[in-house]
Amino acid sequence: MKDTFNFLKDSFKGNKELADTILNWNDISYVLPLMYIDIRIYACNQPIDNIVELGTRGGESTVALYSAVYEINTQLDQSAKMTSIDISPECESVRTRLERIGPTDWWTFITGDSAKVEWSDPIDFLLIDTSHEYEQTLKELNKWTPFIKQGGTVWMHDVSVNKGVSEAIHKWLPEQPKDTWKYYEVPTYAGLAWLKKI
Ligand SMILES: C[S@@+](CC[C@H](N)C(=O)[O-])C[C@H]1O[C@@H](n2cnc3c(N)ncnc32)[C@H](O)[C@@H]1O
Repeated sequence: MKDTFNFLKDSFKGNKELADTILNWNDISYVLPLMYIDIRIYACNQPIDNIVELGTRGGESTVALYSAVYEINTQLDQSAKMTSIDISPECESVRTRLERIGPTDWWTFITGDSAKVEWSDPIDFLLIDTSHEYEQTLKELNKWTPFIKQGGTVWMHDVSVNKGVSEAIHKWLPEQPKDTWKYYEVPTYAGLAWLKKI
């Protein structure tokens, strides 16, 4: 475990906010490097338009996703945007954390219900991490997945610990046209479901 800590510290030493967020263990820390690296690799092959996060809380996942957005825009000359949506308006204060990464011009916060907010743009990555209740998760899948680009990804946190999340996936997935989504679960603490649009 100590070696893993040191590896992460070295890898992310240019971004102290990200390193501190990953190393400050909580329920989502385990999957932050996976999502960050997934975005970085994808961005080498195609430009990113939008990353959307449903469920912001104190901004752990926001820091990881925005770190990737900030780096690909400044290093690969892309113009990716990130939008975070949470029912709680206080989550806008996460901007203070993002400012420690760099200017936050590419981040928008929307206060609202994740199943009702208006949206019309293509999405490369979507993180679903809100109430984890069956009905809400199913509404989120139905509302947001039509915007996912081919090759894009939906991550769903807490799939191993919230029945509502896995039940919603197993209701939604068989209703999709054959061979449109690849599904697997990363068996980390709390679990991360991975839906890739093919
Ligand atoms: C598990 S926390 C999110 C954790 C966050 N992704 C992180 O990494 O710190 C769940 C969040 O979802 C929000 N939430 C719950 N129901 C929601 C809804 N219907 N629409 C939008 N946000 C919701 C809560 O206010 C809470 O901040």
